[in-house]
Amino acid sequence: MDHTDMGDKLEKILVTNEEIQAKLEDMARQIDADYDGDLLVVGVLKGAVMVMADLVRKIHSPLNMDWMAVSSYGMGTKSSGVVRILKDLDADVTGRHVLIVEDIIDSGLTLAWLKKNLLDRGAQSVRIAAILRKPEAAKVDVQVDYLGFDIPDEFVVGYGLDYAEQFRHLPFVGTLAPHVYGG
Ligand code: XMP
Ligand code: MG
Repeated sequence: MDHTDMGDKLEKILVTNEEIQAKLEDMARQIDADYDGDLLVVGVLKGAVMVMADLVRKIHSPLNMDWMAVSSYGMGTKSSGVVRILKDLDADVTGRHVLIVEDIIDSGLTLAWLKKNLLDRGAQSVRIAAILRKPEAAKVDVQVDYLGFDIPDEFVVGYGLDYAEQFRHLPFVGTLAPHVYGG
């Protein structure tokens, strides 16, 4: 796919779609080895739409898909750790083995909260799959059971990730040119 029209807005590509798909194959293989059925895969809207769609198609174990939308209270692009549920699950997690699928782990605050929330509701187990992680940005330790790529602490877009709701549709992960931020 050609995205040369994005050429002046993107700075560099960090992870190509080919690299993402290969990594998701590894992650799915490990998930298949770890579970035998009765898996509830929870995608976190909206950023995880791409990784959810690609990952579940590589998993062979039977599973259900569900979605949550959450938002950190407070302003700006930084997570506060106080999370508000914008859209809750349709499924009852009681007694279920839950796999949360996330786009990116930045401070870790959102996922730490989400994991605890699902365990408090009676999930039998909660594991985390994320395609990206920024190790330098971690504020809390969150165990990522299935990880794609560690990346530098830079704002990234593409493959579900947005800047002001743009760039989610790019099939790769990249950084934005500084002028796009209004700089
Ligand atoms: P925390 O800090 O709680 O945040 O781990 C996770 C959420 O923050 C968003 N996020 C990003 N979104 N580019 C984005 O488009 C980024 O570089 C980025 N870093 C964090 C994302 O919604 C994630 O779920
Ligand atoms: Mg976002």
